[in-house]
Amino acid sequence: MSDTKQFRLGVLGSGKGSNFVALADAVAAGKIPAEIAVVVSDVADAGILERARARKIPAHFIAPGQFRTKLDEDAERALVAVLQNARVDLIVLAGFMRVLKGDFLRVFEGRIVNIHPSLLPCFPGLQSWKQALDHGVKIAGCTVHFVDAGVDSGAIIGQTAVPVLDGDTPETLHQRIHAAEHELYPKCVAAIARGEISVVGRRVLRKKA
Ligand code: GRF
Repeated sequence: MSDTKQFRLGVLGSGKGSNFVALADAVAAGKIPAEIAVVVSDVADAGILERARARKIPAHFIAPGQFRTKLDEDAERALVAVLQNARVDLIVLAGFMRVLKGDFLRVFEGRIVNIHPSLLPCFPGLQSWKQALDHGVKIAGCTVHFVDAGVDSGAIIGQTAVPVLDGDTPETLHQRIHAAEHELYPKCVAAIARGEISVVGRRVLRKKA
């Protein structure tokens, strides 16, 4: 028996969970040296929960409470408890549509990552692929970053550029960005699980082999 402790992921999402699937597939293929210990959603019938259960991964719905864009105090406490009980090393936000606040960030400081469908710091917030198209940029993309107290503002771990085509609609551009996310997120999470990165100020650096 190996005495190496397995790196444990907690995945949070509100939607269909295609990034969760990409992560779970990468874990199953041995590309991420980790296990997905738990999946949590603030949406009772979210696809991500169904997809987690289909893979026999513990999946929890936590009722978000009275607010629209954040969790209320009870929900946040419940979320912390579920993640602590699952002994997660890293929290992976995969389409989680609520802003995480002070206490949660303090408990898991430096251990929360997110994927955002733009080349940050351009186009934070909602529907960033549409923001990119409306702005007329020629290169869109996606970003994996650490989560801090701001909106999509934490230190950048990895980015993939996605060219904007003349015939693009918000839907076609979003689709190609989504496909790029499914490649980028597992690579970034694998690098963290392998202990390959260090953070110096805002810069996330690869440790030399
Ligand atoms: C992704 O586009 C991600 O960038 C954003 O939310 C979306 C989640 O999609 N944060 P899915 O549920 O993983 O399919």
